[in-house]
Amino acid sequence: MHFRASSAASIPVSEASAPSVLDVEDVNIFYGDFRAVTQVSLGFRRNEITALIGPSGCGKSTVLRSLNRMNDLVEGARVEGSIRFNDEDIYGKDVDAIEVRRRIGMVFQKPNPFPKSIYDNIAYGPRVTRMKVSSMDDLVEEALTKAALWDEVKDKLKQSAFGLSGGQQQRLCIARTIAVQPEVILMDEPCSALDPIATTKIEDLMHELRDEYTIIIVTHNMQQAARVADRTAFFTALADDTTGDRTGVLVEYDNTAKLFESPADQRTEDYISGRFG
Ligand SMILES: Nc1ncnc2c1ncn2[C@@H]1O[C@H](COP(=O)(O)OP(=O)(O)OP(=O)(O)O)[C@@H](O)[C@H]1O
Ligand SMILES: [Mg+2]
Repeated sequence: MHFRASSAASIPVSEASAPSVLDVEDVNIFYGDFRAVTQVSLGFRRNEITALIGPSGCGKSTVLRSLNRMNDLVEGARVEGSIRFNDEDIYGKDVDAIEVRRRIGMVFQKPNPFPKSIYDNIAYGPRVTRMKVSSMDDLVEEALTKAALWDEVKDKLKQSAFGLSGGQQQRLCIARTIAVQPEVILMDEPCSALDPIATTKIEDLMHELRDEYTIIIVTHNMQQAARVADRTAFFTALADDTTGDRTGVLVEYDNTAKLFESPADQRTEDYISGRFG
């Protein structure tokens, strides 16, 4: 395969030396023979929010799922290269993928509460992972409080989670992720099914959670990336010179303000100004 040399993103030297909680190096991701993502390298910093943006099909979800081994569950998916979490290879041979997913939790596009009570949605993870918990009631309250949902649900904890609004269900899913004490929270377009008010609540919540967690969010909404993210990575899909197959590459990765105000790459400029994608 041949890809233009300019496809590699340059990360400023001063940034590259800062400590990362997750480090992605020379990662290629395949579905069977199809290379969905090519030569991606970037580091995610602790207690920051990083946004992954780019046109549909450029591999944002594929990259996100590789960060907590969610791709293991996708038929034919394969990750090459190195992904290190606190300096440990998450694809190492003795690594427990379930434990990786506990420490690097995930919130999906469509809220997906379990068909259980609000309380049991939160208690489920701690129970199945046999977490040492002195009081489950306290843990449930704490997770719901951190997810800015407690006041709205405290009088109906035993009711079905399906009775909540979409925005409340999404905050419940965030609370469910928090309940098992992750370090990193991955979010794949978490607001795309929500109205503007529910979206604002999730964005405010992300800012609060940043003090304690590292957040990586895929979003199609560039205003959202500009509002919430400290750092933004722009991906695009490049066609192979010979086969024409399209594969996702990281074009540019920088401070959000820098990337939006003075992008280094013309392709970033075209995308954020709406000329492409
Ligand atoms: N389970 C799968 N099996 C085969 N190919 C897949 C699978 N999931 C994704 N792909 C392919 O991998 C490429 C990247 O897809 P991905 O879903 O990561 O893109 P994306 O940037 O998240 O797009 P969108 O913005 O539409 O969500 C696409 O060409 C897609 O068709
Ligand atoms: Mg996607």
